[in-house]
Amino acid sequence: MSRLCSPNRPCTLLLLAFLQLAFVLFLYRRSLSGSFASSLYEEDRDGRWDYSKTHDVYTNLSFVTPSPDRETLPECPVESPLLVGPLTISFQKIPVMSKIARKNPYVQAGGRYTPPHCKAQYKTAILVPHRNREPHLRHLLYYLHPFLQRQQLQYAIYVIHQTGNRTFNRAKLLNVGVREALKDEDWDCLFLHDVDLIPENDHNLYVCNEKYPKHVSSAMNKFKYRLPYRMYFGGVSALTPEQYLRINGFPNTYWGWGGEDDDISARFDMVVKVSKSWRSDGMNSIDYNLLQREELPLYTNITVDFGSSPNVRAKVN
Ligand SMILES: *[C@@H]1O[C@H](CO)[C@@H](O)[C@H](O)[C@H]1NC(C)=O
Ligand SMILES: *[C@@H]1O[C@H](CO)[C@@H](O)[C@H](O)[C@H]1NC(C)=O
Ligand SMILES: *[C@@H]1O[C@H](CO)[C@@H](O)[C@H](O)[C@H]1NC(C)=O
Repeated sequence: MSRLCSPNRPCTLLLLAFLQLAFVLFLYRRSLSGSFASSLYEEDRDGRWDYSKTHDVYTNLSFVTPSPDRETLPECPVESPLLVGPLTISFQKIPVMSKIARKNPYVQAGGRYTPPHCKAQYKTAILVPHRNREPHLRHLLYYLHPFLQRQQLQYAIYVIHQTGNRTFNRAKLLNVGVREALKDEDWDCLFLHDVDLIPENDHNLYVCNEKYPKHVSSAMNKFKYRLPYRMYFGGVSALTPEQYLRINGFPNTYWGWGGEDDDISARFDMVVKVSKSWRSDGMNSIDYNLLQREELPLYTNITVDFGSSPNVRAKVN
């Protein structure tokens, strides 16, 4: 041990390696997920809330109107007065984009929002890895926009879309999303958000914990459906940009996280590799082909092409 912690190999590196490993292990675990019909989540059902009485997700937003004087906006209060608690969520009808846009008149191009009536105290970027999940995405946008506006945050929603038929690479999509989002704004918080999860209670604030990354949810199987397991480190997690960069993001080279691979030996292999390569494989080595960056009315679509040949290792700087 002493050799690992000598003056030219400081212990902090060891600590950071451990942090990334612990975080990856923490997130990389089995959880029930899948069908969006069951993908509501609630962090702590501690009995504080009565889920038999829910509110429309657009409740109270009619009170939000632009202040006539942009110069002298008051600070938004720490606790938003607009919050209502449990929300009514239904997946019966897939909302159309134009309707969602109409219901969110203050959302600007690229899915950005800044409260028009007070100065936001907090800036959160939502990053959604995506491929072939348009119905899920529309549900997410329908619920997430008003949810975040009631929290009086400044926010933007980024959808990071992988083209081509190569294995879905959630980890690398998130690295791309973080890099692209940080070009726009000095975000206080990054929400890594699966497309098929909808928050059920607006007191679940989309802000980060400055001390440690937080795993906001794993999917709750509210309707008690039996769903297939998948090997999954997903859900919703929140990190500050500093936390994300300190762990060097996610490893770019693990293809197929997100479901296909349900093999315990693959998991062990992954852990061994991460412990060896975390410093060279991640945010500092990411190499991608940005095909398009488009500001749509409800989100920014960042389209990346990771090629079509399997298992090309990311470049090591
Ligand atoms: C928000 O809506 C709830 C439920 O309808 C209501 O009780 C509350 O007074 C509203 N808050 C504001 C600030 O209007
Ligand atoms: C993936 O796309 C490439 C290039 O378009 C094609 O040659 C290949 O057959 C496709 N593979 C599968 C499994 O669909
Ligand atoms: C993003 O843009 C690409 C390229 O135009 C398009 O194929 C894809 O469907 C878009 N994805 C979403 C979720 O809008």
